[in-house]
Amino acid sequence: MHRVSVVEWKGNGHRGIVSYGTVTSFSKHYKHEATAMSHSFWKKRRSIWLSICILFTVFVLCVSVLPAPMDVSENLETGPLELLRKGLPIEKKSYVLHERMDGLEKSRKEWQLKPDHFTFYNTLRNVPTPFNPLNLTNGIRVYVYDLPQKFNKDWLVDERCSNHLFASEVAIHKILLSSPIKTLNPYEADFFFMPVYFSCKFSSKTGFPRLGHAPKLMEDAVNHVSSMMEFWNRSGGKDHVFVAAHDFGACFHSLESEAIAHGIPEIVQSSLILQTFGVHGFHPCQAAENIQIPPYISPSTVFSYVKKPPEEQRRNIFAFFRGKMEINPKNVSGLVYSRGVRTYIYKKFSRNRRFFLKRHRADNYQLDLLRSTFCLCPLGWAPWSPRIVEAVAYGCVPVIIADNIRLPYSHAIDWSNMSLNIREHDVHKLYKILLNVAAKNLSSIQKNLWKEENRRVLLFMEPLAKGDATWHMLDRLSTKVDRSFVKHENF
Ligand SMILES: *[C@@H]1O[C@H](CO)[C@@H](O)[C@H](O)[C@H]1NC(C)=O
Ligand SMILES: *[C@@H]1O[C@H](CO)[C@@H](O)[C@H](O)[C@H]1NC(C)=O
Ligand SMILES: *[C@@H]1O[C@H](CO)[C@@H](O)[C@H](O)[C@H]1NC(C)=O
Ligand SMILES: *[C@@H]1O[C@H](CO)[C@@H](O)[C@H](O)[C@H]1NC(C)=O
Ligand SMILES: *[C@@H]1O[C@H](CO)[C@@H](O)[C@H](O)[C@H]1NC(C)=O
Repeated sequence: MHRVSVVEWKGNGHRGIVSYGTVTSFSKHYKHEATAMSHSFWKKRRSIWLSICILFTVFVLCVSVLPAPMDVSENLETGPLELLRKGLPIEKKSYVLHERMDGLEKSRKEWQLKPDHFTFYNTLRNVPTPFNPLNLTNGIRVYVYDLPQKFNKDWLVDERCSNHLFASEVAIHKILLSSPIKTLNPYEADFFFMPVYFSCKFSSKTGFPRLGHAPKLMEDAVNHVSSMMEFWNRSGGKDHVFVAAHDFGACFHSLESEAIAHGIPEIVQSSLILQTFGVHGFHPCQAAENIQIPPYISPSTVFSYVKKPPEEQRRNIFAFFRGKMEINPKNVSGLVYSRGVRTYIYKKFSRNRRFFLKRHRADNYQLDLLRSTFCLCPLGWAPWSPRIVEAVAYGCVPVIIADNIRLPYSHAIDWSNMSLNIREHDVHKLYKILLNVAAKNLSSIQKNLWKEENRRVLLFMEPLAKGDATWHMLDRLSTKVDRSFVKHENF
C-alpha cells in the first residue's frame, strides 16, 4: 500500500483521520494566493516575480526547516473505510519504554515516534517510510480485532484468568492495544491478532483450566472475522495470529496422546500460533507456523518480592520443588504423569535434608524461590513449565528435567549458561550433579542468570519494554513478513 502525501496538517481536535491533500492541491492553494497577490501588483512585473520568489523560498523553508506538526494523529475523527484504505496510521506520537525492570530502579525512556512527518518528507523524496518504533528486525503493524466479548472479556470475571500460567493470551492482547505498532487501519496491517481467551475456563471440580471448548471457540472466532471482514479470506488466515499458551499448543488437550490424536484444528493450520509448547524436531502440535513464548507469570508479583538484586539474596535452600508429585503415579490413558520423574524425585530425595520438596503450593511460594539455589523444573504432562520462568525471575538456577524440550527465545538467551539440563534417565544422579555444579561453576551460572536482560526476556511487562517477552515475540513476528499480505501485494 502506498502512502498518501499529506500536506495539510489539520489535527482539528476530534477523533479520526487527518485531512488529506496532495502536493498538487497544496500548490494550487498557493497559486491561488499568488494570483490574488499578482492582481494588486499586476503593473509591477518585478513585484510579481519578487512575490513568487518569496513564496517559493517560504515554501522551501517550510518543507526543509520547520519541524512537522507532531500531534497530527491523535484525537482525530474516524473516517469512512475508503479513507482508511489510503489512510495514514493513527497512533501515539510517543511511547514510553521501560529501560530497566529490576524493581529498584525503574528509569523510563521516551521513545519518540515520528511516523507522520516521516510520511510527509518521504513521499516527497519517494522512499518507503521507515516505520519501526520498537526497533524490531522489520517494521510491522498489527491490527487487533475487536471481537465480541464472549471471545475474551467475558472470561475475565474469573480473576485467575489474567494471572495463571496460561495468561499470556490476556497479557499480549492488553499490551498490543497500547503498543505503537497497533494500527486501527486493517488495510495497512501486516498481521491480524485474534484476541480469544482459550485457556480461561476453569473446572469447578479440580480448579484446572479446561480446554474442551477451545476448538469450537476458535472456529466461531474465525467465522466471525471472515464473515465480517475480507482479511481472513484473502490470505486464508496466513497473517492471522492466535495465542495457544497451554500444554500442547493449538492441539487443545493436556494429554499428549490425545493432543496428537486431535491435532491442530484445520481452520488455523495456516495461521501463526504463539505457544508455550516446544520440543526439538517434528511434533504434530507444533506443525503450524509458531513462535514459542514463555509461560506467563505476573511481573508485578515478581517486583513486589524481588526487592534486592537477586545476588544479594540469602539462599539457604539447596534444591527446591513445590507442586504436584503423585506418590503413586496415576496412569491416565496409559500415560504416567511427569513420566514418573516427579514421583521418582520425591521418593528418592524427600529424606535428603538439602532438598525442600513439598506436594502442595503455599502462600510463601515466592519467598521460598528467593531462598533457593536450585529450582527443580521437571516435566508435567507437557515438557514446559512455568517453574522455569519463576526460577529465572527469582534468581534461582532452573534445573530442567524434560527430554527434548525446546526453550523459548533461545536465539536471544544462552540457556546453557544460566540453567541446568538433566536427562530424565539421569534423575537418579540429581544430587551428585547439583553438588558437582555447586562446587565447580555455580557462581558463573548465577552471574549469567542474574543479568537483568536475561530475566527481562521472560516477563510480559506492562507497558511493553524493549527486550521483554512481548518485544521478543513481536521481533520474531517481524521476521515473518513474508506472510504479510500488504507487503507482498502492494509494494
Ligand atoms: C536498534 O537496533 C539496532 C540493531 O539491533 C541497534 O544497533 C540500535 O542501537 C537500536 N536502536 C535503538 C534506538 O535502540
Ligand atoms: C469468506 O469466505 C467464507 C466462506 O467461503 C464466506 O462465507 C464469507 O462470506 C467470506 N467473507 C467475505 C467477507 O467475503
Ligand atoms: C500404565 O499403563 C501402561 C499401559 O496401559 C502399562 O504398561 C504401565 O505399566 C502402567 N504403569 C503404571 C505405573 O501403572
Ligand atoms: C557447569 O558445569 C556443568 C557440569 O560440569 C556443565 O555441564 C555446564 O555446562 C557448566 N555450565 C557453565 C555455564 O559453565
Ligand atoms: C556462555 O558460555 C560460553 C562458554 O562458557 C561462552 O563462550 C559464551 O560467551 C557464554 N555466553 C554468554 C551469553 O554469557
